[in-house]
Amino acid sequence: MKKLVILACAIFLVSSLSVLALDRKKGDIKHGKQIFKEQCKACHNGKKAKKLTPAHKTRAQWKRYLKDNGKKLFRKHNKANVKLNLNEKDINDLWSFCYVGALDSEKPQTCD
Ligand code: HEC
Repeated sequence: MKKLVILACAIFLVSSLSVLALDRKKGDIKHGKQIFKEQCKACHNGKKAKKLTPAHKTRAQWKRYLKDNGKKLFRKHNKANVKLNLNEKDINDLWSFCYVGALDSEKPQTCD
């Protein structure tokens, strides 16, 4: 009986861990970086818009902007009258790059 309880706990733990690991969508990190450099950085350089790199935000913050197909990211830019040219795959790739380069990642990326 005790063994069964331990087994159940172990299964629960492993499955909840894998849910956390799914936070980042599997995307093309290299392409994400390219998008950030070519599109995002062009404005977010401290002149046209405030300076922004993946290392400026945590994984949780990036998630808030990029989940639901970048809903919040598009909303923020619509307000500023900026039209972003990104499809679903671009958003995924961007998310992957921001995830591996976020403030709380092992290697925060400044994109310089
Ligand atoms: C044509 C210019 C332009 C481009 C391109 C652009 N942005 Fe922005 N962005 C803005 C402006 C203007 C704002 C609103 C004012 C501000 O935050 O400086 C903004 C706001 C944001 C915000 C919210 C800022 C905050 O901290 O509240 C995020 C996040 C963001 N942009 C990310 C991105 C990403 C990621 C890309 C690349 C896909 C991108 N932006 C491309 C102009 C741009």
